Amino acid sequence: MNAPRFSRLVGTGAALPERSVSNAELVAELSQRGIESSDDWIVERTGIRQRHLASAAETTTLLGAKAARRALDAAGLQAAEIDLVIVATSTPDQIFPSTACLIQRELGIGGGAALDVQAVCAGFVYAMATADAMIRSQLANKALVIGAETFSRILDWNDRSTCVLFGDGAGAAVLVADQRPGVLSTALHADGRHADLLRAAGSIDRGRLLGHPFLTMDGQAVFKLAVSVLDSVGREVLTKASLTVSDVDWLIPHQANLRILQATAKRLGVDPQRVVVTLDQHANTSAASVPLALDKAMRDGRIQGSQTILLQGVGGGFAWGAVLLQV
Ligand code: ACO
Repeated sequence: MNAPRFSRLVGTGAALPERSVSNAELVAELSQRGIESSDDWIVERTGIRQRHLASAAETTTLLGAKAARRALDAAGLQAAEIDLVIVATSTPDQIFPSTACLIQRELGIGGGAALDVQAVCAGFVYAMATADAMIRSQLANKALVIGAETFSRILDWNDRSTCVLFGDGAGAAVLVADQRPGVLSTALHADGRHADLLRAAGSIDRGRLLGHPFLTMDGQAVFKLAVSVLDSVGREVLTKASLTVSDVDWLIPHQANLRILQATAKRLGVDPQRVVVTLDQHANTSAASVPLALDKAMRDGRIQGSQTILLQGVGGGFAWGAVLLQV
């Protein structure tokens, strides 16, 4: 009989752009263009206090590669040992090749598989579930799973209802084949009928930009859907692994809005103290938000060996998913 084969998390890393911008600084910048907002409004409605914004030189690829190097260091692995790179991003630097291939080049590696996953804010859990499936089915042995975004490039900085919500950054995780789990269960879903709720609908045709290239969103509809699907998908992965909410040591949901995080924890029955929150420091970094929060909790010692972690993503598509894992 074949030995059991799972994927196991052995290292994480993060990278943020150098420039951090507080609400007060952003509000002052907006005010110079005649747009009114306030620190109070942003904190009360979202929980966000600051975000990191990328310079022109801080690309999605470079942020992703930096996070990847830190994750490899934490795992004690060399880049050359990696045979799969999956990057979750909605803000690639080029139409093609994939950001995963560009990150391979930055890391000086080649030969393994490399692909991007486009599931917006659910991207990192989609990428983790894909890497887990590829490792279990022996398509890969050692995977770099990266969420990297420069959302500041697709924001309409004249739209106060969206531009205050997002930030830039990257997070990475290393998954390796192991006889012990590891990733316990995964679940992925999408419902394209909600495609218009949250989108950046521009396209390129013969070198011309067509349509509206900036992010637009129906905030209240997104809020309600997000809470509902995060609850159901959280329960789904627990049931698949024959565990209950009381087995979850840390809940790491996509960091979109503090009220979404609180409502999700309440519906699932998770103690709010067990929810990892980085939204106040990073704002919504889309596919990077879950790995940034995971890395923070790994490095500050909150996450300890043998604990059970529930990762959840939700975003444009509408797409959502969860990954339950033991570290
Ligand atoms: N500063 C000051 N006032 C503002 C701002 C701002 N930055 N933005 C909007 N307002 C005003 C609006 O114009 C409106 O004014 P009005 O009453 O005079 O018309 C008022 O604030 C209330 O606006 P609402 O949109 O009703 O505010 P709401 O309480 O719904 O909060 C928010 C908006 C924060 C976007 C909320 O709906 C939300 O968090 N939704 C979830 C969406 C989300 O987080 N998306 C992120 C991407 S999706 C994802 O990652 C899952």
